[in-house]
Amino acid sequence: MDETPETRTTRRRLLTAAGAALATPAFAGNPKNLPPNVPDWTRQLGDGVAVRPYGQPSKHEAHVIRRDVQWLTASRESSVSFTPLHELDGIITPSGLCFERHHGGIAEIDPEDYRLIIHGLVEKPLIFTLADLKRFPRVNRIHFLECAANSGMEWRGAQLNGCQYTHGMVHCVEYTGVPLSVLLKEAGVKPNARWLLAEGADSAAMTRSIPLAKALDDCLVAYRMNGEMLRPEQGYPARLVVPGWEGNVWVKWLRRLKLGDEPWFAREETSKYTDLMESGKARQFTFVMDAKSVITSPSPQAPLHQKGFTVISGLAWSGRGKIRRVDVSLDGGRNWREATLDGLVLDKAVSRFYAETEWTGQEMLLQSRAIDETGYVQPTKDELRKIRGVSSIYHNNGIQTWLVKPDGEVENVEVS
Ligand code: MTE
Ligand code: CO
Repeated sequence: MDETPETRTTRRRLLTAAGAALATPAFAGNPKNLPPNVPDWTRQLGDGVAVRPYGQPSKHEAHVIRRDVQWLTASRESSVSFTPLHELDGIITPSGLCFERHHGGIAEIDPEDYRLIIHGLVEKPLIFTLADLKRFPRVNRIHFLECAANSGMEWRGAQLNGCQYTHGMVHCVEYTGVPLSVLLKEAGVKPNARWLLAEGADSAAMTRSIPLAKALDDCLVAYRMNGEMLRPEQGYPARLVVPGWEGNVWVKWLRRLKLGDEPWFAREETSKYTDLMESGKARQFTFVMDAKSVITSPSPQAPLHQKGFTVISGLAWSGRGKIRRVDVSLDGGRNWREATLDGLVLDKAVSRFYAETEWTGQEMLLQSRAIDETGYVQPTKDELRKIRGVSSIYHNNGIQTWLVKPDGEVENVEVS
């Protein structure tokens, strides 16, 4: 059964009600396996190679899974599952844990029958097989993909108890594919072309208009993620990669690219994926995902079990380039300290940050604030609401607050 945020909150309340002090997990193992004894796993031969021809995580990690929120959507075919950010580290999302967002279920495509069409304002309309795509010069790029609706439930106040649910519509993997500019050059872009229509082969036929300048800049037609072929749920056998832009334009199961001189005003860029502003007007084509960050640990699904030296960890990303700096606050934004960015800090990819502290059991209001290389500073939720109102769904990049309580439990809250 999927564990919903509600069931978690109930359990946490029970723990607190029972007066549990610091929720240090009791030793649940077998004392016979502890030093100085020789443990079970040393007394017997282990499994041989290729017992599992495709490797799986340890059975002890079975809780590290995508989860969904069942009341959020009416059907599972047009729905979303969330990345368990609180269980991960570094910047690469394991393929099997990448959140999924489909509007018409997962298209099951036989790679033999796969075709990609380029037509419209081109000199030479073309149809590519998957084998054709793989023969073109290729590149590898690590990028985040964030759904425009990530944190969309939080506009009117703290809703969901866990960064998996508040921020888990983001993943970051390495893509292998052909630069879209190479394919478009092959077809020959006519001088009056300004826009590109991308269409998916799924039952939703996801269709979006993308400015040609972006298509020629850094987009890819990708067929691999993290080295292996795309997973079915991520668009097998080919998807569009649109670095830094809202996830919706990263069309999966890509079947058609059409060049034109104006946008097509498809359903997903008129009735959906527009931002209803405070004035009552809707803002259209908000493509770029602004800088955002979240503390992944501690967080409601990753409470603190021990006092003393504590590593606060999180992710920051920006659709406008690299992350320059992340600040962390322990007191709801009154005082800030600079976090350490660790590992690769890449263009339009997530960056991992750490901040160390001595936790003595005091209440903390944890926040993180991302600053990108353009100098853009992640706003507070209130600053965002002043411009955007509360009728929006998409593009909520406000600063997240976690309340760490003396018992180590963590709750999604807001400070004003
Ligand atoms: N492409 C097609 N063909 N159909 C879809 O439903 N969903 C879009 C986009 N591309 C979608 C699609 C949305 S809203 C998002 S956020 C991303 O795919 C999600 O990509 P993921 O499932 O790899 O996380
Ligand atoms: Co989306």
